[in-house]
Amino acid sequence: MFSILDFLIIYSIFINSVIASHEHQKPPLPVIIDTDGYIDDFLAILYALKSRELDVRGVTYLGDGWSHAASAQNIVDIIDDIYPGKNLPVILGANYDLFESDRNPKTLGSPGCFYQKSVSEIARNDADLLYGLNRQLRLSKRIWYDALTGFNITQNFADLIDSTIKQTGKKPTIIATGPATNIVTFLRAFPTYTKRIEKIVWMGGSLNVYRDLFTVPSNTLAEYNLYLDCVAAQELLAYDLNILLVPIDFTNETPLNPGFFDKLSKLTSFYGKFTYRLLSTTRAVSFANDSAFYNNYFLWDPKAVAVVKNIGISKIVSNRKLAVTCEGKESIDGQFMKSQILTKANFKIAIDAIVSDPVDDSPFFNDFLDAINKD
Ligand SMILES: *[C@@H]1O[C@H](CO)[C@@H](O)[C@H](O)[C@H]1NC(C)=O
Ligand SMILES: *[C@@H]1O[C@H](CO)[C@@H](O)[C@H](O)[C@H]1NC(C)=O
Repeated sequence: MFSILDFLIIYSIFINSVIASHEHQKPPLPVIIDTDGYIDDFLAILYALKSRELDVRGVTYLGDGWSHAASAQNIVDIIDDIYPGKNLPVILGANYDLFESDRNPKTLGSPGCFYQKSVSEIARNDADLLYGLNRQLRLSKRIWYDALTGFNITQNFADLIDSTIKQTGKKPTIIATGPATNIVTFLRAFPTYTKRIEKIVWMGGSLNVYRDLFTVPSNTLAEYNLYLDCVAAQELLAYDLNILLVPIDFTNETPLNPGFFDKLSKLTSFYGKFTYRLLSTTRAVSFANDSAFYNNYFLWDPKAVAVVKNIGISKIVSNRKLAVTCEGKESIDGQFMKSQILTKANFKIAIDAIVSDPVDDSPFFNDFLDAINKD
């Protein structure tokens, strides 16, 4: 027969195990980051590395976006500092968009590649060196070409996915913050690997935000990650993959603002202070004045990391009839247009962010500042 005491003991064991199961942290989510290395891509990787909920398994790098391939060194430096001794793979992939490399494989770099030419060399150099601030990182002994496990994006990407599944028992989520060139190049060679990817969360595209690409004013409804390789964008959407798109409609709902900068300026950690210097320099060097900066600069890619962490999302939709324009015309390429066909049910779009008043209290900003301020 149970006494009241037995009951209380059993009850308290039950309660304790409930509390313990809540306190016991879920194993971190294995992620692979595919990036083109611009300032906000760098910050997205930093944010992911500092997020306890995520287990970064490696980074695949693109040279066809907003930085040159050798700037993968910046990523090697922060990875080796934040995940010491792990020697995570940093793998160099595509240098040219598929539109060019499919058509003119022998003449890459000249005369074509107008997609890549839309990003100025000045902007690429600024991103490569993080405006010169990369010398203030804690530099790794690994150098970038040692950090590449070969130069074969297809085989290396497959190996990284295989080792992730083997070591964690889980399929990786890919956080894509640049053009889709690497992922599509890889899937062209290994199409069955769509089944070995949990999900792709891709920052890219514009559904309804009319604003020109900074450097291609004639194009008013594109976003760079689609524009810089529209062939890859078209193909990625056609694969049978779970894709969650994070378009600028979502990222631009929570703009940078003076309140955020004020909080950022007070952070005490090494990377908190570094991020403050990096964004302050971006503001001072790349924009005419503060209002131009606040109207045009967003932490686009870190928001894709927040979406993976399920932070700051207010609405996700699916079942859109969308196609990507890609005709070799700079004024229209990289845009979403209406299609006759419904996108696959596993293609979803985060369209609304949680926006607090004031905006610097929004969940994204709080989590971002909290994560990078951990020492
Ligand atoms: C890259 O790896 C793939 C798959 O193993 C292979 O077919 C291809 O030949 C490799 N490419 C190079 C340049 O080694
Ligand atoms: C800020 O710069 C933008 C873009 O150059 C310009 O249009 C705007 O008038 C400037 N605003 C102020 C307050 O100076």
